[in-house]
Amino acid sequence: MALVTLKQLVNDAFQGGYAVGSFNVVNMETLQGALQAAEENKSPIILAVAEVHMGLIDLEQYAPIILRAAERASVPVAVHLDHGQAFSSFVKALRWGFTSVMFDGSTLAYEENAAKTKEIVRLAHTVGASVEAELGHVTGGEGDPSPGVADPTLFTDPGEAQQFVQETGVDALAVAVGSVHGIYKGTPELDIPRLARIRDLAGVPLVLHGGSGLSDDDFRQAIANGIAKINVYTDMSQAAMAKIRTAQTLPANTDFGQFMLTVVETIKEAVAEKMRIFGSVGKAG
Ligand code: 13P
Repeated sequence: MALVTLKQLVNDAFQGGYAVGSFNVVNMETLQGALQAAEENKSPIILAVAEVHMGLIDLEQYAPIILRAAERASVPVAVHLDHGQAFSSFVKALRWGFTSVMFDGSTLAYEENAAKTKEIVRLAHTVGASVEAELGHVTGGEGDPSPGVADPTLFTDPGEAQQFVQETGVDALAVAVGSVHGIYKGTPELDIPRLARIRDLAGVPLVLHGGSGLSDDDFRQAIANGIAKINVYTDMSQAAMAKIRTAQTLPANTDFGQFMLTVVETIKEAVAEKMRIFGSVGKAG
């Protein structure tokens, strides 16, 4: 089964009316929890390494472990660079064998974003990897603990999305339609009519960043209107931290390794819950 491209996973999901979860891997526990959830639920999965998380693990050492785990998995797995900006990150990720990369030019002017995305598409497609890009800007930073709100002035323009996909040749497009990275300030409100229009014009599977803190109904409507990949990190992180806080009441001679297995279990449950909502359970083929 094992290692596949992002394009294959999101095209299947787009056709099949479900979404594949993309979960940020920041250490062995997140890798194990996410993969176990996928295998137990027979769900495809995207294991994502965000450029901003690269300081948390030495990827020269861990990328081969992530890829080996993906190759050995009983379900299809894409290994993905999330929010890449530095050219060196793309070269390294592709050399390690990642099957997809995201170029994040979402804070750039349209022309510069399109030109740089095109360059990354040329590079990645040469070695058979897929490319996701972002048009419009999803606010909030990865790992930023301050609650955020979406900025409608930065939402994706449907006409531009059509032009961008045609110009760049991306395999998937991340859109700004009301989600934010991290914790939401207030209740999020997705602009579903805008999403539907983007879906009709762009013609590629769409990606929703900021998948933590949205309601089941938000996900249902997003998937019904073109979202085929949903990124999640904060909910996994918060579930793991809640579990870690319980360690204070454990006896001092508690074994660290044994305790971390319970953290893996908690992460697995958080990931499995998303897979059920996204409709990817049982879609491993
Ligand atoms: P959350 O941390 O809000 O789940 O977003 C994750 C994400 O979009 C990664 O790219």
